[in-house]
Amino acid sequence: MKTIHVNASRSYDVIVGSGLLRGAGEVIRSYCPGGVCAIVTDDTVDALYGAALEESLRAAGIKTVKYVFFHGEQGKNAQNYVELLELLAENQLTRTDCIVALGGGVPGDLAGFAAATYLRGIAFVQLPTTLLAAVDSSVGGKTAIDLNAGKNLAGAFYQPHAVLCDVDTLATLPDAQFRAGCAEVIKYAVLQDEELFNDLMISGTAFPREAVIARCVAHKRDIVAADEFDHGCRQLLNLGHTVGHAIEALSDFEVCHGEAVAMGMGVIARAAAANGLCSMDCARAVEDILARFDLPSNSPYGAEALQEVMLSDKKRRGDRITLVVPRGIGQCTLHTIAASELTNFVKAGIL
Ligand code: NAD
Ligand code: GLY
Repeated sequence: MKTIHVNASRSYDVIVGSGLLRGAGEVIRSYCPGGVCAIVTDDTVDALYGAALEESLRAAGIKTVKYVFFHGEQGKNAQNYVELLELLAENQLTRTDCIVALGGGVPGDLAGFAAATYLRGIAFVQLPTTLLAAVDSSVGGKTAIDLNAGKNLAGAFYQPHAVLCDVDTLATLPDAQFRAGCAEVIKYAVLQDEELFNDLMISGTAFPREAVIARCVAHKRDIVAADEFDHGCRQLLNLGHTVGHAIEALSDFEVCHGEAVAMGMGVIARAAAANGLCSMDCARAVEDILARFDLPSNSPYGAEALQEVMLSDKKRRGDRITLVVPRGIGQCTLHTIAASELTNFVKAGIL
């Protein structure tokens, strides 16, 4: 078991290990003196792990209510958000109670936003069950729902009170979802960890789960501690995301987040090389590691099609947009360009 301590507006531990779900009730009890816990999960995860979590909470003397929604990105919507708040209110949860997100980034983001806003904030614990949520979305306090106009457009920064990542739950992830999570692992390697990059090239998907997740969480911890509210270096975590979010949206979320980020990383690495910001060898290395994980590295859409969605991205500030570009493996920087230059910049990275 590994513990990573995060120092932010709220400090908390991220615990990564085996068998943690069984003991979750004991840990959650200290955030839940009122004795009621609302579990937020999707139908797939509920069928797999809902009963085990409820049993653990019951054994710790905690009553449960549960909000289960249909799995997938579309679940992160305003209707589910309001339904969840209504459920919390109907069951008279107070500020001494707690919300637990069980699942991937979708339940995590939805539950986190509800926790941030219900009664202006109640305790919140994340139990990530996807690799993507383990290494990224469960840590750092970004919570959100999607609006018709785009992803994550309504949200709050709200750090969890604890994160328990039971690596055993990853065993039931469909292969495509596991590989999608690998895209976020690769992101940390390209961003700032050449040694991890080299290890992953050797191991492929057979990397040691606990050690690699803890290493990625430690990278995120450092970035969040330096820039919790996303004004500076935290934007580095968006490597591959400007193009990736546009691909996700254009595909009507048929392309999942992690896969879209993989495509976005490939495109931006080639675009950076074509625009003289990194070497072709660097761009090829990014393509190679994505291929090693059977991940795509090209966009199914052209730059013109991507343009409108990319410009509606939260990362645009007025007529400027900040991209994350590799300068070498393990070294990325923020690169701000005029919004009018974006299409040509990205076009250079699309095959
Ligand atoms: P997800 O929560 O939809 O999970 C993907 C699929 O895997 C779902 O169908 C789910 O039912 C299934 N699943 C989850 N755990 C499982 C398990 N153990 N076994 C079998 N099936 C399982 O999506 P995700 O990929 O985890 O997260 C993507 C979301 O996270 C996006 O909405 C993205 O915007 C968000 N995100 C947020 C942050 C943040 O900082 N808040 C960071 C990155 C991504
Ligand atoms: N996943 C991006 C962030 O947490 O900032």
